[in-house]
Amino acid sequence: MFHQKLVPFSKNFLWGSASAAYQVEGAWNEDGKGLSVWDNFVQKPGTTFKNSNGNVAVDHYHRFKEDVALMAEQGLKAYRFSISWSRILPNGKGTINQKGLDFYNELIDELLKYDIEPIVTIYHWDLPQALQDEYNGWESREIIEDFTAYAKILFDAFSDRVRHWVSLNEQNVFIMHGYMLGSHPPAVQNLKRMYEANHIANLANASVIKAFREGGYPGKIGPSFAYTPSYPVDCHPENIIANENMADYSAHFWMDVYVYGRYPKVMLTTLEKMGIAPTILPTDTDLLKQGTPDFMGLNYYQSVTIASNPLDGVSFSGKANYSGEKGTTQEAGMPGLFKMVSNPYLEKTNWDWTIDPNGLRVCLRRISSRYNLPVLITENGLGEFDTLEDGKIHDNERINYLHSHCLAIQEAITDGVEVIGYCTWSFTDLLSWLNGYQKRYGFVYVDRDENSEKELKRYKKDSFYWYQQVIKSNGQSL
Ligand code: BG6
Repeated sequence: MFHQKLVPFSKNFLWGSASAAYQVEGAWNEDGKGLSVWDNFVQKPGTTFKNSNGNVAVDHYHRFKEDVALMAEQGLKAYRFSISWSRILPNGKGTINQKGLDFYNELIDELLKYDIEPIVTIYHWDLPQALQDEYNGWESREIIEDFTAYAKILFDAFSDRVRHWVSLNEQNVFIMHGYMLGSHPPAVQNLKRMYEANHIANLANASVIKAFREGGYPGKIGPSFAYTPSYPVDCHPENIIANENMADYSAHFWMDVYVYGRYPKVMLTTLEKMGIAPTILPTDTDLLKQGTPDFMGLNYYQSVTIASNPLDGVSFSGKANYSGEKGTTQEAGMPGLFKMVSNPYLEKTNWDWTIDPNGLRVCLRRISSRYNLPVLITENGLGEFDTLEDGKIHDNERINYLHSHCLAIQEAITDGVEVIGYCTWSFTDLLSWLNGYQKRYGFVYVDRDENSEKELKRYKKDSFYWYQQVIKSNGQSL
């Protein structure tokens, strides 16, 4: 591309950071909270790294004032957090737990006290166990009504102070892990059930957005999508088609539905041929088209590189790296469609995730051109080991990662993309669902590990101060 002068970040740019209820709150059975599927899932030995769980997590439920004070010290403009459905509705529906509403009211007020804008995620994977037990959660259309009723409670309670809402966090991830890989609850491995559950989640997402509009609530709403952009390994025609398969399979299959209310034709035809396409009722398309988002939430961590994969080729059954032992990820893909291969141009983290700031620019440009929507970057960050030494954490790799990704955002803005804000993942260290506490993402180190909660003391990492400068200069220090 021709060399161009970078356009500055807008003065309203939301420099933020993010978390999710199950990963930070703890207090899993306090103040009337009901069980979520994650509270239940982690009790089974062998499901997570060293059997880690979020029972205490980083105790944000009790320490949120300390955490928000740190956010204020850093100068955060926005904080994205999720609401635990079963803290508000212990049975997923019915009686409201006032103490649950109180907690989030206090958190929102505390943020606003420091002019930090709350960005609220309605669903970040912690489905009430009661709904899983009653009707199999996302596999039943009953969830559409219950999810909408839950969201309306939140809109009524908080929309006087919340301007940005995230409907579903990473539907593609919780559905694929939950129903294909079997590594998240409900730990099913069945593609037909996966595509049915995914379609129902699409309907629930649209129903909540529709209810938001019909209720006349102020503010904007959209889903957060885990976009992993793909590149063909070379220009061999078979690899080009494999990459087309991947793009449809991993990106358009979700985002086209959010924005256009329809599935990409080629992908749907493939699923129909395989006998695993979802059941689409005539009224579904209307609902999908009535519940389209105001913005696309983008969670970006890495890109993948794609090659063709024969019918008897690799599947997703290979070993994944949840331990931080570099190089232990096995090749994976969909037989007959594509497989993921190494990209010789990109470095990788200890968890084998590629480090590719250019991929973020690619995502932003593709979303902007294909969907003509503004983008709120709802997650981006580096999961790594960190070492606490004399009260300090020199996380230069994280600074380099975030720095290069911020520049990629500025390049995309210069390309013409409208970016509302940037939430890094994460503010404090937190529980990584399958990777325990050793895979750290925060600006703030929390002194605990899988074996002991210790005192959960907070320490500011070098990246804390680096981001403080970025925010203060509105990106000019980059
Ligand atoms: C996203 C999720 O998938 O990535 C977060 O929305 C998650 O909840 C983050 O923690 C990082 O993934 P991981 O597996 O490294 O914790």
